[in-house]
Amino acid sequence: MKIRAILMAGAMTASALGFASGAQATDSKEVQMLHWWTSGGEAAALNVLKQYLAKEGYTWKDVPVAGGGGEAAMTTLKAMVAAGNPPTASQILGYFALDYAEAGKLADITPLAEKGGWAKVIPTALQKFTTTNGKWDAIPINIHSVNWIWVNKAVMDKIGGKDPQNFDELIALLDKAKAGGVIPLALGGQPWQEATMFDSVVMSTGGPDFYKKAFIDLDESALNSDTMKKSFDNLAKLKAYVDPNFAGRDWNLATAMVIKGDALLQVMGDWAKGEFKAANKEPGKDYLCYRFPGTDGTVIYNTDMFALFDVSADRKQAQLALAEATMNPEVQSAFNVIKGSVPARIDVPDTAFDACGKKGIADVKAANEKGTFVGSMAQNYAQPPAVAGAYHDVVTKFFHGEIKTSDEAVKELAAALEGAK
Ligand code: BGC
Repeated sequence: MKIRAILMAGAMTASALGFASGAQATDSKEVQMLHWWTSGGEAAALNVLKQYLAKEGYTWKDVPVAGGGGEAAMTTLKAMVAAGNPPTASQILGYFALDYAEAGKLADITPLAEKGGWAKVIPTALQKFTTTNGKWDAIPINIHSVNWIWVNKAVMDKIGGKDPQNFDELIALLDKAKAGGVIPLALGGQPWQEATMFDSVVMSTGGPDFYKKAFIDLDESALNSDTMKKSFDNLAKLKAYVDPNFAGRDWNLATAMVIKGDALLQVMGDWAKGEFKAANKEPGKDYLCYRFPGTDGTVIYNTDMFALFDVSADRKQAQLALAEATMNPEVQSAFNVIKGSVPARIDVPDTAFDACGKKGIADVKAANEKGTFVGSMAQNYAQPPAVAGAYHDVVTKFFHGEIKTSDEAVKELAAALEGAK
């Protein structure tokens, strides 16, 4: 720690006095960030951080790896770290960060965290992923949640639909859209998107205690239960409402179908709201946000964290600047208004947020108090990557007909999760 502090002070003095050569000076002031924020709304949100750091005198180097859910990004990150060339920071989800921490690849920014009093303003559930053995090594920029549906209001009005309160009412609404000649459900048929939707289906079918038993505890009887079978039955029902071209479609193209009114609704995390915002659409007027029917009162979360890597001493000043910027309450407000998520800091006011954002903030608070704030299985907040990957595989095989019945899906899921844990 002492050596590190001396090295850092040295780097800071060198750049402050302009001793370092042009190239070195740029490097020590550069924040290199790996992420998968390549859609319109995502890029706009990231700009908030870039601009803030630019004002502080830092330059930004993107390492973008397209692909929602971050699967491809995690492969690139692994290669960079293995080559001894880690980015300053990487967007990361839950258990992936724990793996890098355990491998000793992350930095220790505890002094900054203590100075900022972060432990008091970040929900305890998230601190499991931002700290290792009491040391801070990652920072949360937001809280997303996956149990939402995003509805085109004009289409809803045209078909005379109303806010569905439970799964059966959702099916009735989708039927109305079908009868009205519009694509009922906009979906991107990629494993992570189907699995993310299944998180909500399971929560709606079994409720929060069941969800926790099955996905957090990996309880065998829950995994093999009739409720899990019913969850697969419900997932199968949704398949009847997607268009024939759904396979492989990116999530933001599915959101665009709803924005344009080509489809009634999308089941997606609140990053979808970032796309509505980027298209200048307003909640209540152009679109409606509801919790996935039957899941009101629960929040299935995934947080975007930045894992901070143990970079060389000359790069640490920029890393600390990034950490400080990320945890700045104003940055958290501005970023999340655009991203569609809610601030990770619970002390950020909801003033700047639209109606859906205000609901998101209130929901997180209430769920946190009630014990219904639970990690997303699909998004790596319930289980380590191997287990989450096994979950993606089974859900997608079922959705695409490779696994034919719900009974078979239940057995395959229980076996796959058991084998991967
Ligand atoms: C991330 C979001 C991102 C979404 C789609 C999720 O895993 O948490 O920040 O917008 O993937 O790319």
